[in-house]
Amino acid sequence: MIEINDLQRIYHMGTVEVRALDGITLTIEKGEFLGIMGASGSGKTTLLHMVGLLDLPTSGRITIDGLDVLRLTDYEKTMFRLYKLGYVFQDYALVPDLTVMENVALPAMLRKDRSEEQVKKDSFSILQKIGLYDRRDHLPRELSGGQQQRVSIARAMVNKPDILFADEPCANLDSENSKMVLDLFHEINEEMKQTIIMVSHEDWHKDYFHRIVRLRDGKIASDEKNLSAG
Ligand SMILES: Nc1ncnc2c1ncn2[C@@H]1O[C@H](COP(=O)(O)OP(=O)(O)O)[C@@H](O)[C@H]1O
Ligand SMILES: [Mg+2]
Repeated sequence: MIEINDLQRIYHMGTVEVRALDGITLTIEKGEFLGIMGASGSGKTTLLHMVGLLDLPTSGRITIDGLDVLRLTDYEKTMFRLYKLGYVFQDYALVPDLTVMENVALPAMLRKDRSEEQVKKDSFSILQKIGLYDRRDHLPRELSGGQQQRVSIARAMVNKPDILFADEPCANLDSENSKMVLDLFHEINEEMKQTIIMVSHEDWHKDYFHRIVRLRDGKIASDEKNLSAG
């Protein structure tokens, strides 16, 4: 469970202050597939970066399974990210000179508790799951955008994180590839009971989410369950 309490993030641009997050309080249950929606500039990415431990809030509190994560040291945060969290970005962020297989294996290789054999096995099995096993020796640029995004999801999933963060993962995809990516998230959520927090501003994506939190000017404008999801 993730508990976010009165989260504030203020950016100072010269003398102007931008309240990117202005008092966000939110509880996210384990296994939830949560959509964060709202207009451009409403604070979606900022919120994701705070909860994903990629940036620090100005004030407020975040606990994950009871752990006060903002009080962790930098090293502890790095370890927490590596062992517990996974990320998918809009631009895929794959390493261009590494093959598909190497990209997927990368986060697993950084861990001390995984043998080379185990890493290989996990990477193969997740590549099979996303239907790109036969492309494992290709470079990212030899794949379509949709395939690259599926590789980046495989990379995020290889360590079986508790929480998967995705910031507009379909922003550069056509509707067919977007659907494939959303179906993959849906499957992951169903099968692995992964908590997924996904930012989107495409209205039709909301059919996939269990719950939709809409932001406006750094505040929660609405928070609704979607009973027909899935
Ligand atoms: N690094 C930054 N420096 C200054 N202002 C920022 C920075 N990042 C975001 N902002 C501002 O914070 C607000 C929220 O941004 P963001 O979280 O990126 O919104 P969204 O993802 O919903 O489009 C915007 O007004 C944006 O201009
Ligand atoms: Mg954004």
